[in-house]
Amino acid sequence: MKGLFITLEGVEGCGKSTQIRLLSRFLTEKGIAHVVTREPGGTEIGDKVRKILLDVSNLRMEPLTELLLYAASRAQHVLEVIRPAILGGKIVLCDRFFDSTLAYQGHARGIDPELVKRSIEIATDGLKPDLTFLLDIPAEVGIERATKKGVDRLEGEDLVFHKRVRQGFLGLAKNEPHRILVVDATCGVDELQTKLRHILEEKLRQWR
Ligand code: TMP
Repeated sequence: MKGLFITLEGVEGCGKSTQIRLLSRFLTEKGIAHVVTREPGGTEIGDKVRKILLDVSNLRMEPLTELLLYAASRAQHVLEVIRPAILGGKIVLCDRFFDSTLAYQGHARGIDPELVKRSIEIATDGLKPDLTFLLDIPAEVGIERATKKGVDRLEGEDLVFHKRVRQGFLGLAKNEPHRILVVDATCGVDELQTKLRHILEEKLRQWR
């Protein structure tokens, strides 16, 4: 049986990483084989690309270069990790995927939407998440949380940029309400996890 591809998305500081960790614990307790991964990164090569993308000293990076580096990390990730896991019947929990490219490089950075779409098609070869959780919080709340431990190149963008990222994500969810579920992430960690587990349990019932 084919696995399930589940992604978590949202603005900086929305709590994705914590929630993925807790979802992974939930699947482990149920004895369900799964892989936890992230973008950019998720492979040795992708992690090197991630460093370049987030390095604050790379302020001269052109938007096109940025788009192609996210695509390069993704191509490696899809081929090396995600597709094999799905074909092996596992659940893949992925911290960000192409919706981040649409929201950050497309909506917020303003790169030509056709170019963004093409880069995604090349990198994914048509692979799409079965379910995407959009953890929604106001950008200012997320940025306040995220920048406590230092700021990377993307986090260092101004608040207007991050507000556009949020609007970008919400627009995507509006266009694909069956795949992208918007979950209010302004609540506490446990309450948010409970909401996600309810949705995931329902998805698991349909999958089996
Ligand atoms: P993270 O901080 O959630 O690990 O994500 C790394 C940064 O990369 C974050 O600022 C969002 C950004 N990003 C993009 O701009 N485009 C993408 O396609 C992905 C996957 C992430």
